[in-house]
Amino acid sequence: MVDEIHLDSIDSTNTYAKQHSSSFAPDRITCITAEEQTAGRGRFQRKWVSPRGVNLYATFYFRLPANTLHLISMGQVMTYSFASLLLQAGLHPKIKWPNDVQFEGKKISGILCETSFTRDFVELFLGIGVNVNLEEKIAKQIDQPATSLLIETGRIWDKWALLKALQKQFAANLEKFEKEGFTPFHSAFENLLAYKGQTVRCFDGKKEWVGICHSLTNDGQLNLYLPDKTICTMLSGELSPGRS
Ligand code: BTN
Repeated sequence: MVDEIHLDSIDSTNTYAKQHSSSFAPDRITCITAEEQTAGRGRFQRKWVSPRGVNLYATFYFRLPANTLHLISMGQVMTYSFASLLLQAGLHPKIKWPNDVQFEGKKISGILCETSFTRDFVELFLGIGVNVNLEEKIAKQIDQPATSLLIETGRIWDKWALLKALQKQFAANLEKFEKEGFTPFHSAFENLLAYKGQTVRCFDGKKEWVGICHSLTNDGQLNLYLPDKTICTMLSGELSPGRS
């Protein structure tokens, strides 16, 4: 179902996938993992702290038709796939739109979604980092509030079993997404939204918007309710809790 490439040490599994994608099966998912990343990358050119052995660093590579419905929310399908595994394990994660899974405002997982378009198809490089067995003293050194499964549950997790479960969940969700876009995930994703009904700041890359985190559009974009009572729909951005 999923082809696997496991690396010991690499700069970034996303970078590796981009460099080698021509050798991957065009009609399957290829999942590249590494024990450590020496230059793990996050959104907005941030660094992703990737110490050896303790965490999951994985890039899912696959192709979709260039005209795929709701393509913009593909990363959110991965986010939801991971969050739903946590729900199945009895945990209570939140999703900080668009792609962060968190507990009490502390990030446990992030997704870097990169694309490469040809006329007929788009290549997707969905990189997911999950803090699995990261210890609290290391988590505290990260430049934003971070947590791990170990910290949240007090036990060591089998990261490869978690990866297998994620591959299965994501492959099933991708099949759904290819047929119906983001629609089947919309309400479950919206129910997990962090800061729902609260004032947030959203930086769209150019400008910071302040408004109430209101709802999601059918294709996964964020509706912010602005002070002038209009709705502003964010295509992408970085959310943080704002003044209320
Ligand atoms: C973010 O929240 O900013 C996204 C973090 C994505 C990290 C993962 S780890 C595997 C893959 N390789 C990378 O260099 N980044 C992604």
